[in-house]
Amino acid sequence: MGGPVPELDARAVACADRLRDADSVLVASHIDADGLTSAAIAASALERAEVPFEVVFEKQLDADAIAAIAERGFETVLFTDFGSGQLDHIAEHEASGAFTPVIADHHQPADADTEYHLNPLLVGLDGSSELSGAGTTYVLARALAERDGDTSGEATTDNRDLAGLAVVGAVGDMQASDGELTGANGAIVAEGCEAGVVEEATDLALYGKQTRPLPKLLEYATDVRIPGISGSERGAREFLSGLGLDLEDGDGWRRWVDLDDGERQAVASGLVQRAVERGVPAGRIDDLVGTTYTLAEEPTGTELRDASEFSTLLNATARYDRADVGLAVCLGDRDAALDRARRLLSNHRRNLATGLDWVKRTGVTGEEHLQWFDAGEEIRETIVGIVAGMALGADATRSDRPIIAFAAKSDTESKVSARGSHRLVREGLDLSAVMGEAARALGGDGGGHDVAAGATIPADEKEGFVERADAIVADQLG
Ligand code: C5P
Ligand code: C5P
Ligand code: ZN
Repeated sequence: MGGPVPELDARAVACADRLRDADSVLVASHIDADGLTSAAIAASALERAEVPFEVVFEKQLDADAIAAIAERGFETVLFTDFGSGQLDHIAEHEASGAFTPVIADHHQPADADTEYHLNPLLVGLDGSSELSGAGTTYVLARALAERDGDTSGEATTDNRDLAGLAVVGAVGDMQASDGELTGANGAIVAEGCEAGVVEEATDLALYGKQTRPLPKLLEYATDVRIPGISGSERGAREFLSGLGLDLEDGDGWRRWVDLDDGERQAVASGLVQRAVERGVPAGRIDDLVGTTYTLAEEPTGTELRDASEFSTLLNATARYDRADVGLAVCLGDRDAALDRARRLLSNHRRNLATGLDWVKRTGVTGEEHLQWFDAGEEIRETIVGIVAGMALGADATRSDRPIIAFAAKSDTESKVSARGSHRLVREGLDLSAVMGEAARALGGDGGGHDVAAGATIPADEKEGFVERADAIVADQLG
């Protein structure tokens, strides 16, 4: 077959064949934007292939979660956006005949393998920048359609219409953080464009182009800080008013999507000029422009149209125990589910802002090779990793060291999240190994990607964890 990622074709065909012949499939997926889009892609593909299935979400796929999945008595379990890192536990249930696992994941695999295992890392592709969980599941969905004998070339029957969700998953996992999606992700973007569901453009790289009024778009932009505008509502308004354009209409400030090309050009040049005047380094100014991904079939001016805004909307559901809402939105529910998701989104935004504020006020503790903070009960454990990532880009921290964040998980357990930069990864940083090794040495467990990873550890081992993590990072960056 000719899937979007040729390296994965043989494995995708084996997994697809197994699923097509299954009597019943339980799709188990992760509670973030990539996990939700993975589940939605899997659900659509299984439905179209007429394979009966149900979907379940897990915060974390630990031994207990896998045992509970086994209890449910499905013949086949399709793990998406997790599973590879827990293959040792999964293999025990497979050996006892509880279920046959099929895995579509992009996390660092554990020391075990299984027959139906789709993961970019197994074929020499990078799981943190070249293919997401949703992208891997998309490869599987394409194989499933093809094995189902579809040769019509219609996007909705060969599953290419699902490319939009794969792009949202990749963007949600920050795989476009160097400015654009590349590698296998790029091949999926190309299929989505060809199928008419994705549009790729070079545009202002600020978050909120679809939904935010212009002053908010500029005020809240933290990726590239422009002195006098970022973080200042008045500064943003004055800057915009000074451009001599009609940026307000009867309803108040217009949004980026409401502007025509000329107006966009004028705002963008004004921003660049201001950044130069205020001494923002040229390399940072370049980051103001990047490749943006639009879901062409979604209505203009909604969160669903922009891949980045869509992914935040999904995180706002799944990380607050409402993965069902996010999944329904992905599957096309534009009424009750979308309303609910939007309310969850304003709550999520508030929590991120409060969390980041807390970190800035409290500060981080510097070790020799990393920096860390302990949020305790201040930040929800399901979003502490997102806040850590935001803090790494903010003034509050050093950008040349990885950051580790703790949050209370229960009376006895702490959640740990770690975030680094691509530059540190190029120098040897592998946070997946740091989290895994340090956690296991203390009776916990962890894993993830080189640039972003997490762990669960006993609550009274935080100090020891920092010490071990610091030593491992020192070794890696040696
Ligand atoms: O489990 P999963 O792979 O979906 O989670 C990836 C996490 O890593 C996301 O929360 C994403 O925001 C984070 N990440 C990051 N920076 C990167 C790559 C991923 O913060 N450069
Ligand atoms: O939870 P957080 O966003 O910090 O997770 C970052 C990455 O680490 C995700 O890819 C997640 O799947 C992974 N992780 C893991 N094991 C854990 C916690 C997180 O593999 N115990
Ligand atoms: Zn993922």
